Amino acid sequence: MTTTQHTILIVDDEESIRFSLARLFNKLDIPVISAAGCDDALEMLSTRKEPVTLIISDQRMPGINGAEFLEKSRAVCPDAIRFLLTGFSDMDAVVDAVNKGQIHRYLKKPWDNDELISQVKESLKQYELINENKRLLKLTAKHTRQLFKFGIIMKQKVQEHGKAIAKLKTSLKSLDKELKDNHLNTVNAFLSLVESLMPSTEGHGSRVSLLCREMAAKMGVSEKDLADIELASLAHDIGKLKLAEGMWQKSKDQFTEEDMDMYKKHPEEGQNMVLFSPRLENAGKIIRHHHEHFDGSGWPDGIGDTDIPLGAKIIAVADAYDRIKKMNETVSPGEGEDGSPSVSEYINAQAGIKFDPEVTRVFSEVTANK
Ligand SMILES: [Fe+2]
Repeated sequence: MTTTQHTILIVDDEESIRFSLARLFNKLDIPVISAAGCDDALEMLSTRKEPVTLIISDQRMPGINGAEFLEKSRAVCPDAIRFLLTGFSDMDAVVDAVNKGQIHRYLKKPWDNDELISQVKESLKQYELINENKRLLKLTAKHTRQLFKFGIIMKQKVQEHGKAIAKLKTSLKSLDKELKDNHLNTVNAFLSLVESLMPSTEGHGSRVSLLCREMAAKMGVSEKDLADIELASLAHDIGKLKLAEGMWQKSKDQFTEEDMDMYKKHPEEGQNMVLFSPRLENAGKIIRHHHEHFDGSGWPDGIGDTDIPLGAKIIAVADAYDRIKKMNETVSPGEGEDGSPSVSEYINAQAGIKFDPEVTRVFSEVTANK
């Protein structure tokens, strides 16, 4: 649930009703304001700094009826949930008001306190969900614009990644439709762009992510941590998008000192790129530390041992495994099968130096039959 500060407005010409409702809602720790008539209520709505989240209005009031007042209140406070309270059997007016979208619920006098409380709680939850949804849609739209802008600049610079941009656009469309997959789609869009610009890395993110998931699951991490690790492992190198264009096709041994300084910034850049959503904060931390070493000799922060997030330690091993394995396949197929050090032997030799010994042990178990 969000931290929305709710306020309920009660509009009724009968003081006893205003008093009873206020006393009831005060038990919920929700601030209540009240007005005896439409004009006062509209004045309150238009002058308040914080919006009113729920309006409860009596139907029968002198001058103007509740349904008409609630319709007017929409202009001032369009997001508020609106309840109509009626002590009379004028259902036609209620049905008409519901049909016109003027009210969300109606309550009959006398009301049942428990039922009313439950309806109010449910409505406030609905208000929060709608607002959270609006916030995410706004964020997605902003992010989509940024990605398109970014994609256009890239297209001008690099002709051959047209295919990746098309894939990116498809992913972006799905962002609008599927908010629940928002983060994963965005990360995949970034990833496809990285891999299209650096063909030698194609499939690296997905393979590392699969291995990380298997290792993390074996280590018994929670579902939430598992999701963070999966996402971070997919995205661990997206910060490389910020490398200078000339570096994309170079291997690390071709880097100048300046190139290397820039390269070492990719974990931080990656962290910044996923911080568009507060929900990716943990994944961002994992991305930031995926090049730290157990003995503190890594980067960017030179932290070690228990200061490194577990997900980052797992990625470090899976990342090295996949990169070296791929490199060996390219340079010398079958290396490691003829007595020379294998990838796994290299990783085990780095236990306690680059890699966490426990993570290395789990890695050996997971890859034993691969
Ligand atoms: Fe990396």
